[in-house]
Amino acid sequence: MAKSDNMGRIIDHKLFTEEDIHEICVRLGKQLTEDYAGKKPLVVGALKGAIYFLTDLTKQMDVEQQLDFIDVSSYGDGFESTGKIEIVHDLAADVAGRDVLIVEDIVDTGLTLKFMKDLLIERGAKSVKCCVLLDKEARRTTEVEVEYYGSKVGNEFVVGYGMDFLNMYRNLPYIGILKPEIIDKYIK
Ligand code: XMP
Ligand code: MG
Repeated sequence: MAKSDNMGRIIDHKLFTEEDIHEICVRLGKQLTEDYAGKKPLVVGALKGAIYFLTDLTKQMDVEQQLDFIDVSSYGDGFESTGKIEIVHDLAADVAGRDVLIVEDIVDTGLTLKFMKDLLIERGAKSVKCCVLLDKEARRTTEVEVEYYGSKVGNEFVVGYGMDFLNMYRNLPYIGILKPEIIDKYIK
């Protein structure tokens, strides 16, 4: 039976299929397995966008690890980072002396990632690296190293596979671009 895709009605076009995403997770998981061999990283998921990616990625990472989450928010109107970042939900773990791997859905201006990296370094982490699914490199306004990324993307607002518009559409199993009329319906 064909898989239903009711939510696909809101999507203008797909950018990454479920298969594309799976391939990315396998490739990155293999690399991380090599790079973290013999270490016991603390994997830090950036809520909420990273949860789908983190779940698939870590299953491909054949390394003993621990998991924690942080939620930092910077978004004003749903599209643009405000630059004012605050911790909404902090880590439970003590990161001092740990090899930390931040898992994030997408890096845009880089402000959120920079904030998280600086915070973890300040708290005494031994190493802080990040693995992001998508990198909107052209939008960067701050210098921050992205050690691992799934794919570069252009300056388009994407939803699905954890990424949202007004906290909706995260559960789409693929990644796509919203139809303009869906955006107009909410932002007007
Ligand atoms: P900055 O600008 O700080 O932003 O690098 C990173 C955060 O912004 C969110 N973001 C998006 N979310 N579709 C989304 O659903 C997008 O196209 C998009 N671009 C940025 C994302 O949550 C990330 O953590
Ligand atoms: Mg995010």
